Amino acid sequence: MEKKEFLYEGKAKKMYRTDDHALLLVEFKDDATAFDGEKKDQLTDKGILNNRLSEIFFSFLEKKGVKTHYVKRLSEREMLVKALEIIPIEVIVRNIAAGSISKRLGIPEGMALKKTVLEFSLKNDDLHDPMINHYHIYALDLAKPEEMAVIEKTALKINELLQPYLKEKGIVLVDFKLEFGRHKGEVILGDEISPDTCRFWDSGSGEKLDKDRFRRDMGGVIEAYREVLRRLEGGT
Ligand code: TMP
Ligand code: ASP
Repeated sequence: MEKKEFLYEGKAKKMYRTDDHALLLVEFKDDATAFDGEKKDQLTDKGILNNRLSEIFFSFLEKKGVKTHYVKRLSEREMLVKALEIIPIEVIVRNIAAGSISKRLGIPEGMALKKTVLEFSLKNDDLHDPMINHYHIYALDLAKPEEMAVIEKTALKINELLQPYLKEKGIVLVDFKLEFGRHKGEVILGDEISPDTCRFWDSGSGEKLDKDRFRRDMGGVIEAYREVLRRLEGGT
């Protein structure tokens, strides 16, 4: 597979064309950002860890019948994926209150939610990814009702699959963010699944094993990502 011209750069990844027009190459960077890019740093090896962790999550989900853009990992930082027409909606799945929902609704972090919460945001950093609902989605024609049905069903299925998988590794899946896109007429999962896009808490101590360590200046960010990888690779 040949790496061809550079396509675009996001906050954590760069995309390149390949010699197959249906496939793209993703390069995971060490850049860490928070608050829509206001806070920035370089975290050595973050890209390598997120590439490997995304590979593990995507492979697991594919095995369970979830369609994703993942094809294979090519190198330490590179992953081959199916080219998607991105649907500009961030889909957030929450099991336990944390982060923005705690602030917005005045509920304590760590409070279990009686029912899984799904939220949608418009993918637009300049506008700080504003929360939207189905009315906005259809009014702006961001996705069709049939596509939203697939997105919601898939997001909830991913939650049902990842919660027990992570629990076995001593990790509580607090919340996570997904992105979807269109590929050959189908809506499939895109982007990444990593401690950048999920909240992972240690089951015993409640210790944060995700990007909140960076957002909140807690230190030990990369150590936490490494710990997640160690557990997923079957270490004890
Ligand atoms: P929030 O509580 O800040 O809304 O975040 C909810 C989840 O979404 C959390 O797991 C982190 C993830 N997330 C992203 O992946 N990208 C983002 O830009 C934001 C704001 C959150
Ligand atoms: N990814 C977002 C940013 O880079 C926000 C976040 O993850 O907290 O600003």
